[in-house]
Amino acid sequence: MDIRLANQAVKDVQGDALVVGAAYKKVGQHTKDLVLAGAARDVDSLLGGLIHAISSDGEFRGDQGELLTLHPAGQLAVKRVIVVGLGAQEKIDVRVMHRASATAARHLQQTGAHQVTLAVPAEEFNIDLAESVQAEIEGALFGLYTFKKYKHTSAGGNGPGITSVNLLAGTANSAALERAMRRGSVLAEATNFARDLVNEPPNVLTPSELANRAGAMATQFGLECEILDRARMQELGMGGLLAVAQGSAEPPKFIILRYRGAPQSSEGGIALVGKGITFDSGGLSIKTAEQMQTMKTDMGGAAAVIGAMSAIAALKPAINVTALVPTTENMPGGSAYRPGDILRIMNGKTIEIDNTDAEGRLVLADGLSYAVKEGLAPIIDVATLTGGIVVALGTVMTGLFCNDQTLCDELIAAGKVAGEKYWPMPLDEEYEEDIQSDIADIKQTGGRTASSAKAAKILEHFVGDAQWAHLDVAGTNYIDYQKPYQEKGATGVTVRTLAEFVLRRAE
Ligand code: BES
Ligand code: ZN
Ligand code: ZN
Repeated sequence: MDIRLANQAVKDVQGDALVVGAAYKKVGQHTKDLVLAGAARDVDSLLGGLIHAISSDGEFRGDQGELLTLHPAGQLAVKRVIVVGLGAQEKIDVRVMHRASATAARHLQQTGAHQVTLAVPAEEFNIDLAESVQAEIEGALFGLYTFKKYKHTSAGGNGPGITSVNLLAGTANSAALERAMRRGSVLAEATNFARDLVNEPPNVLTPSELANRAGAMATQFGLECEILDRARMQELGMGGLLAVAQGSAEPPKFIILRYRGAPQSSEGGIALVGKGITFDSGGLSIKTAEQMQTMKTDMGGAAAVIGAMSAIAALKPAINVTALVPTTENMPGGSAYRPGDILRIMNGKTIEIDNTDAEGRLVLADGLSYAVKEGLAPIIDVATLTGGIVVALGTVMTGLFCNDQTLCDELIAAGKVAGEKYWPMPLDEEYEEDIQSDIADIKQTGGRTASSAKAAKILEHFVGDAQWAHLDVAGTNYIDYQKPYQEKGATGVTVRTLAEFVLRRAE
């Protein structure tokens, strides 16, 4: 894909399509006026007020995600103009730009366009030009993502798809805009890499294959990669990961990726820990057929941290970051771990098992203990941890559990820039009561109520004194229906937030 900044007049834009944005502002209670800015206004006047006329007829209102196609038939150099709705003018932000760009790009992909130009409105809509450039390219590449490698014919495909994207930013090519464009494409590619990992079927993406893919990425981007095998896990006392792996024919792996952007620093650096269950059958506490259907996605946390590392390695912030990924299947084989078992985690704590389907906290317990032992901080884990968070927040928001208010604020702020939403969840002392065990240090689960918070309280036992955040992405990691801006399947959620967070910490 050829991506570049363009600085030309609207009438000179060539290629298959020019995408411009249109917002609305409310006048009175029931009427909305279309708001055209920058390139959209130029198109409108070059075509004799056509967009406004169409809007007055009620054909196009500027609502979020709405699309209008114009065929200027020789009046402009470009073959078509797509007007994409941005919604209420005062609510336009990075997330709106991201979605609008993704929606338009997907539409163009499906309707035979190859060379497209995206106009970047900014000042008129009160958003920073560089941020807008980043959001548009990120959105376009995110929107164009598909996962069709196992289909012989990509049904609905239309030739080679989009081959070049120009960003019409209105001003001369400045270094800041070039940087924003690069950031946007790196972050989108890292997100799509994570989506690929999650979308792979579980017979292909085994723990060993996940380790291979992480290793290949590390070689490509110049990261250090170390893969611990079962024998090494035994030496280290990783009783959680080893127990979950017992019932599976596939060997577990513990993936370590190291990025050293501050080799002189005395601090260990940031730890990103991802839950890597490549298939969660529930183990002996087996799931129903329906619950099991999407459980190849239970390594979404792992995919996110591996994806984020690729972006970090490409963008080279001056800070150290380590990704830790305990990965295994959770299967009900003859040697599977059982309810009633007591496990010893790497940091020495014992845990009484009462449901083998609560396996995520066990593998994370070893991952977090490893981070503490290496002196890493802050520690951020990402996990498809609980069904409870899906009930609470749906597919809209990721649950954010954090033992430090500053870290919590930083992650929410990074999420705003990345266009990803986080909702703060509680870690109050009282939740601890339900995870007491009579015969071990803690009990694995705490009943049906507040299951996400109690799972987070379990994790807290393994982070020592470190600043720590836990992102429960069980609801946001995957959508099982198509959206105008997003292919059905993996979302790559948190990749962009994590990368943005790391970049900010390095500044
Ligand atoms: N992988 C699941 C959580 C999950 C549910 C992810 C739905 C994505 C969508 C996790 O391992 C699990 O099964 N959690 C149980 C724990 C319970 C048995 C204590 C849950 O939350 O229901
Ligand atoms: Zn489970
Ligand atoms: Zn799970």
